[in-house]
Amino acid sequence: MCGIVGAVNCKNLKSFLLKGLKSLDYRGYDSAGVAYIENDVINMHRVVGRVELLENELSGPINSRIGIGHTRWATHGEPLIKNCHPQKSFHETFTLVHNGVIENYLELKRDLIKKGYAFTSDTDTEVIANVIDKEYENTHDVLLSINNALKIIDGSLAIAMIFKNDKEHLYFAKRKSPLLIGIGTDTNYLASDALPMIKVAHKFIDLSDDQYGYISKDDVKIFKDQKECAYKYTTRNAELLNIDLNGYPHYMLKEIEEIPACMSRLIDNYYDGKEFKFSKEMLKAFKDADTISFIACGTSYHASLIGKYYFEKINKRANVYIASEWAYFPKFESKGKEVFVMVSQSGETADVISCMKLIKKHGNDTLTITNTKGSTLERDATYSCLLYAGVEIAVASTKAYNAQVALLYLLTNAIVENTSSIGLLKNNNIVLKQVISMKKDIKKIANKIKDSSHAFFLGRGLDYYVALEGSLKLKEITYIHSEAFPGGELKHGPLALVEKGTPVFGFITNKCIEAAIRGNFSEVKARKGTVYSFVTKENAKKGDDIVIDDLDVDLAPLAIVMIAQYLAYYTALARNNDIDKPRNLAKSVTVE
Ligand code: AGP
Ligand code: GLU
Repeated sequence: MCGIVGAVNCKNLKSFLLKGLKSLDYRGYDSAGVAYIENDVINMHRVVGRVELLENELSGPINSRIGIGHTRWATHGEPLIKNCHPQKSFHETFTLVHNGVIENYLELKRDLIKKGYAFTSDTDTEVIANVIDKEYENTHDVLLSINNALKIIDGSLAIAMIFKNDKEHLYFAKRKSPLLIGIGTDTNYLASDALPMIKVAHKFIDLSDDQYGYISKDDVKIFKDQKECAYKYTTRNAELLNIDLNGYPHYMLKEIEEIPACMSRLIDNYYDGKEFKFSKEMLKAFKDADTISFIACGTSYHASLIGKYYFEKINKRANVYIASEWAYFPKFESKGKEVFVMVSQSGETADVISCMKLIKKHGNDTLTITNTKGSTLERDATYSCLLYAGVEIAVASTKAYNAQVALLYLLTNAIVENTSSIGLLKNNNIVLKQVISMKKDIKKIANKIKDSSHAFFLGRGLDYYVALEGSLKLKEITYIHSEAFPGGELKHGPLALVEKGTPVFGFITNKCIEAAIRGNFSEVKARKGTVYSFVTKENAKKGDDIVIDDLDVDLAPLAIVMIAQYLAYYTALARNNDIDKPRNLAKSVTVE
């Protein structure tokens, strides 16, 4: 899930590489490195740790205009200097950075060792460098060597590569992992996404799988199977790619507090004041469908569960599948028309991309709901809906979840042409702002539970789906073991885990389940667990911990989840954790 950058003829190379890597380090942050050509020699600097350490190492000026950089989330080989990228090939012909996983790397490595190649790292990346190196020994043609290597290598890769001391060209290849070309003025760039290039490139080229080629200061050549490919330029909205902290101590806090603005932006993008602005053709596909099947992972999976509820409310049968499970056991409805909805903040989640490939082969219509314009899932779907949430930097997703839920709410209402939903969504923002005003109260609860080793979340109906998301947020950034259960399931097993003082967070936003979930709270209290209840006014009782104004039941997840997001945030803060970059995780999960 690494981030890669590269530039040719870049006057401020050091600053571009370092700033670019910092903007990409949400993709991986266990080590970092750069390589550049200075005085006809390739200089390489690699550190175990964050880009800031690399910055210290590169304190002096560098006299170079061509270079590559990498921020790593290790898949093959521990985060040690020898495993950092860039990696050099055996004859030092190629120096490259890589994002992806090479499935047949052991087999290829064995063959290369037999042919006299020696390896210095445990990475699969070094195998790519050496496969290209070996091809080059035979062909003496860089592009042909990359083409031949792509035929031999199985797996995912986005690479940016320097050839010997060629200062004019930077080579690349892409399969499955994301890679984008940025066009500047007399300078061209490569990066895993648009963020590092947004201030310097005025247009972009999205690459497709199995394409390779080079960029020079004023030219781009793209090939597939040795044939030159035509390409189109695309743009990105610089405003939505703003990554300034704006005075906030963490991106997560900033992103939670951007939620009301995200809701308004969604309404502006999908409603023109009179009618919905979704593609008519797409709405028809949904109207004609017998079944809607969601495919997603993590937080996006939790948003999809709420999407299933919205579709069922308009009388459409809906399923929700975890992508990594569905990919191995695909289920296509035998009768009727099935539309697949892929929900993915990044649009680059490998597990979801694998499903997309199977679905496309089967010929079903797909909709991708994503925050990332130009991402693989956005480009590959029959229809796409952007979330317009602005770039989300914190690894723990917050505003994108709210935008996914709100978009699914708007979409299902658009299918049945219910424009009164717009007013409800607008009014809901008042309660979202109320949650923001209550953050101090949530912080007090966080301080009480900060030393817990376990926590549980309870809900029923939609509140249970929010409980799942609240629990994921808490475990992700606080490292407190946490599980979510439907209230009724407690007595079927989980209650055995409740001990004196175990924090149990319960949500109540729907009158019809109030009595039942309060019964579950009593069961917890009888075992000396500590219940913290987050409820809406009409369900409130003396002793509830957070009470928010009443809101439309279908929109309650948008507010309740914010309480859970703050709870996770302040608990992680109290535990002194690295909130935006939790251990072992990465934002864009581009490996299966
Ligand atoms: C969310 O907080 C997590 N970091 C993670 O579960 C994430 O939602 C999941 O990896 C899916 O990502 P996507 O939405 O980009 O596909
Ligand atoms: N497989 C490479 C490594 O471990 C790249 C990892 C990635 O892209 O996530 O170094």
